[in-house]
Amino acid sequence: MNLETKRIVLVNSSPKLTEESTSGLLNNLAAKQIKTAGLEIYRINVRQSLFQGKTENDFEAMLDADAMVLTFPLYVFCLPGILMRFLQDYYTFWLKQQDRVKNARVYAIVNCGFPEARINLEAVRVIQCFSRKINSIFRFGVMIGGGGMLQGAKDTPFMRKTFSQLENAFQLTMDDILNCGQAVMDNIMITMNFPKKLYFFMGNRGWYSTAKKNGLKRKDLYRKPYFQENVNL
Ligand SMILES: Cc1cc2nc3c(=O)[nH]c(=O)nc-3n(C[C@H](O)[C@H](O)[C@H](O)COP(=O)(O)O)c2cc1C
Repeated sequence: MNLETKRIVLVNSSPKLTEESTSGLLNNLAAKQIKTAGLEIYRINVRQSLFQGKTENDFEAMLDADAMVLTFPLYVFCLPGILMRFLQDYYTFWLKQQDRVKNARVYAIVNCGFPEARINLEAVRVIQCFSRKINSIFRFGVMIGGGGMLQGAKDTPFMRKTFSQLENAFQLTMDDILNCGQAVMDNIMITMNFPKKLYFFMGNRGWYSTAKKNGLKRKDLYRKPYFQENVNL
């Protein structure tokens, strides 16, 4: 084991403004394990970084990092726009600082609304490409399906198994950072231990009540305002 203190940058990229996010919860769990492992930690909230204009300090921390852990929700089967912006800006910053580059190790933790963890794969591959661009070492992704349940049902007994899988995944990440792991690693997939039909039923109810709160009827959810029949493209 390499005993030199490692500096980890933990990035939360949920665009959510007020509600608690699943990415925030995942980051808190990871942070606990990073601290227990005796590693140094620097936390970034992408939304705050961009909107409070403090990207420069955060980019400096990323440049000095031994490892970066990027946590984000899946948006339209890819990365949220604010994370794309942030990574593009970091790349511009990085291009001017290449003499100081440390070749950090990169990990992605992605959670999505659909129950299938594998649909996060394309987003993980985007992070893999980004890592290559900044001469960093992409290691693996932790892909989580049904992410909303982590927040919504975190205290229920049937979620214990999922939380223990998450703990194992983060432990593996810490060990990989500490040991400078070289072996090829597969992405880790974590799916909720919950019946799919019931999950969709509850999800739909959520949409209906949100529609009601916004003065809409159930059928309004199925409207296609931009769809025009008989249009030749
Ligand atoms: C604009 C938007 C796009 C989304 N796109 C997808 C998607 O393509 N696939 C999916 O499974 N979930 C999608 N979701 C659901 C989120 O990934 C899910 O709610 C996630 O748990 C939110 O994580 P957070 O709390 O960390 O922001 C989307 C949510 C929003 C708001």
